[in-house]
Amino acid sequence: MITPKHPLSLIMALMLSALLPAAAWASHTQSLGASEAHHGSRSVPACDLCHGDQGQGEPRAGYPKLAGLDASYLQHQMLFYQRGERHNNVMQQYARLMNQDQIRAVAEYYSQLPAPHHVDISARRPSAQLLTQGSVEQGIPACFSCHGVQGGGNSDGIPSIVGQPPAYFIDQMNAWRTGQRIVEEGDPMQTIARSLTRDQLVDLAQLLK
Ligand code: HEC
Ligand code: HEC
Repeated sequence: MITPKHPLSLIMALMLSALLPAAAWASHTQSLGASEAHHGSRSVPACDLCHGDQGQGEPRAGYPKLAGLDASYLQHQMLFYQRGERHNNVMQQYARLMNQDQIRAVAEYYSQLPAPHHVDISARRPSAQLLTQGSVEQGIPACFSCHGVQGGGNSDGIPSIVGQPPAYFIDQMNAWRTGQRIVEEGDPMQTIARSLTRDQLVDLAQLLK
């Protein structure tokens, strides 16, 4: 009997997968992404452990949600960690242990998970106007003008900003203020983070959570 472990069936399986390039590649990427997320790989733990089994994040610990974030955004963040352009000891270490295929696959995987994509802007919070209109006096454009309708992100690599833990949100704003998070040419977030007052930051974090 030929078991799946038999070397001949392995060779045949490999030959078959070579005959089905596009579909096989897509399903390879899909299973690689899911496997990284739920099981990890050599020296890299499952992303689940911190980011939740649905990629929903862990608010109490301040671990961000990954579900539904734009794939190219996620992929870029992993590259920034790899190159030390975005600072975080844990994520820099994991990113450096992963290859480009693993990173692309896991980014694809999380981008396809469902996530809450709206925020209640009727909430009477002082900073609600920043989301839809920005502030002329402070020179801040409306957050939603880049982050998409209701903050759900857009497909140009701009992430959703809805549903992140407040502690994570404030950490990121501080990272931009102090230059700990990379600013690529044309990335407006450092200027924006520096223009917001402390009170606005805290209020936005609560509004968007
Ligand atoms: C031990 C906990 C832990 C594990 C395991 C972990 N992460 Fe993270 N991750 C974090 C923390 C903490 C942050 C926030 C870091 C920061 O402030 O930049 C983060 C941030 C991220 C971000 C940036 C999110 C954003 O919105 O910009 C990505 C992408 C990411 N992790 C992907 C992964 C992937 C993929 C895996 C699995 C291979 C993984 N993480 C495993 C703790 C973890
Ligand atoms: C002109 C476009 C633009 C505007 C306006 C803008 N952003 Fe951003 N924002 C970006 C881009 C681009 C990124 C991704 C940066 C990167 O790749 O690291 C980003 C990233 C972020 C992130 C990081 C998300 C994560 O998962 O780590 C947060 C939080 C954020 N923006 C909040 C805001 C808030 C709040 C406002 C309004 C006060 C705002 N942004 C206005 C373009 C914009």
